[in-house]
Amino acid sequence: MLGKNILDLENFSPDEIRLVLKTAKEMKKIVQSRIKKLPDLRGKAIINLFLEASTRTRTSFELAGKYLGADVVSINAGTSSITKGESLRDTLLTLEAMGVDAIVIRHKSEGAAEYAAQIVKPVIINAGDGAHAHPSQALLDLFTIERHKGRLAGLKVAIVGDILHSRVARSDIFGLTKMGADVHIAGPKTLLPRFFNFDGVTVHENIEDAIKNADVVNVLRIQLERQQAGLFPSPREYARIFGINDERLRLAKEDVLILHPGPQNKGLEISNAVTYGKYSAIQEQVQNGVAIRMALLDLTLNGGSL
Ligand code: NCD
Repeated sequence: MLGKNILDLENFSPDEIRLVLKTAKEMKKIVQSRIKKLPDLRGKAIINLFLEASTRTRTSFELAGKYLGADVVSINAGTSSITKGESLRDTLLTLEAMGVDAIVIRHKSEGAAEYAAQIVKPVIINAGDGAHAHPSQALLDLFTIERHKGRLAGLKVAIVGDILHSRVARSDIFGLTKMGADVHIAGPKTLLPRFFNFDGVTVHENIEDAIKNADVVNVLRIQLERQQAGLFPSPREYARIFGINDERLRLAKEDVLILHPGPQNKGLEISNAVTYGKYSAIQEQVQNGVAIRMALLDLTLNGGSL
């Protein structure tokens, strides 16, 4: 994977996914250890170019680079020269001129990471481009599921909520189906893609059908910032019909695993009790996110073989 741009899981082979998950397993030991430092990326420079809000993804990419010994600089939209009207192209060329090895980019426009990969030579890692893709989130979701269930193939995974605007759902679908999971998506009709035909994915308008006997339920945030008004009647109505709460979860398998990429709209797509309840791996996802991002940085900047 040396030099590979991480744009989406669409262009990952199952073997590459397995390699990332295997590497992340080793990296997780470092995250949990007392001295969180490996020399693997000493002498490498990484830029975190975050032009859209982020807590988890930005911080975990920054820590991931630092735990591996790289020099990491984070740039946020509000404090960059983009506010003075500098274009994305010129921003990328400026960063390249400083000799950086990788640029981790988050942008509100679909295709921004791919565009960056066409403009500059450093490794480009997509940390979320509009509603398109979020590969590192999908990989940490797969990693978390595999740790709990011991496998991915054959599991019933329900992805529920705002599928239409979710880059996490899209990347999860590629990752999960490539690894042989049985994926079910559900949400209000207005938040489902209008034309959706994807091998290995079943679409439901009724949430109960999606979570019935599910091994995993991945609850998505309602992306209020990406939707026009009127896509669902009211928050209360949404919570009543589609919200994930303890009662609804009784339909799922007894040992169902609950994921949410965060940030959460509490009481809307997920109840407080579920977030902090015994099935939830939401906090663990955050830790696994650091391990996955360490794996991605190490594999793309240092190599690693299948
Ligand atoms: C997700 C994102 O930004 O796409 N969050 C994340 O990276 N942890 C999901 C979201 O914003 O709902």
